[in-house]
Amino acid sequence: MGLFSKDIQTMDDLYLHMLEDIYYAEQQIEKALPKMIEKASSSALKAAFESHLQETKGHLERLEEVFALLNKDVKGATCPAIDGIIKETNEISKEISDEKVLDAALAAAAQAVEYYEMTRYGTLIAWSKEMGRTDCAQILQQTLEEEQAADQKLTRIAEERLNKAA
Ligand SMILES: [Fe+2]
Repeated sequence: MGLFSKDIQTMDDLYLHMLEDIYYAEQQIEKALPKMIEKASSSALKAAFESHLQETKGHLERLEEVFALLNKDVKGATCPAIDGIIKETNEISKEISDEKVLDAALAAAAQAVEYYEMTRYGTLIAWSKEMGRTDCAQILQQTLEEEQAADQKLTRIAEERLNKAA
């Protein structure tokens, strides 16, 4: 990608790049969740991560559907943002020995991931509509709603933990 050959010229290019970015992010989340399930102690947190792992597989399939609708190859583009959140989580986890503190750190990391995904899906939905691709928007909307629900579930788990501690 040099000065005279920039890869992203049009809104369509930018849209495709963002689709490839979130595809990569979902793949990294799919890889990270089993490790988070292993590290988590609370059964509620483990269950939340397990159900989100299943949902994440569906998110990848939905993105594959969107690539197909646009006649594009299914492809991921390295996303330093998600890599950073996962790396930070791994580093912090290594520093924590108390299992309750570790659970709180893992839940917080998962919520950071959810927010990253929500902002990406939100933008892609808006741009899909702008491009007249309500078919793509509808598919992405289903995933956005699952990300929101996953985030809310993690908030409830954190609240229950605080109530027990009080
Ligand atoms: Fe997702």
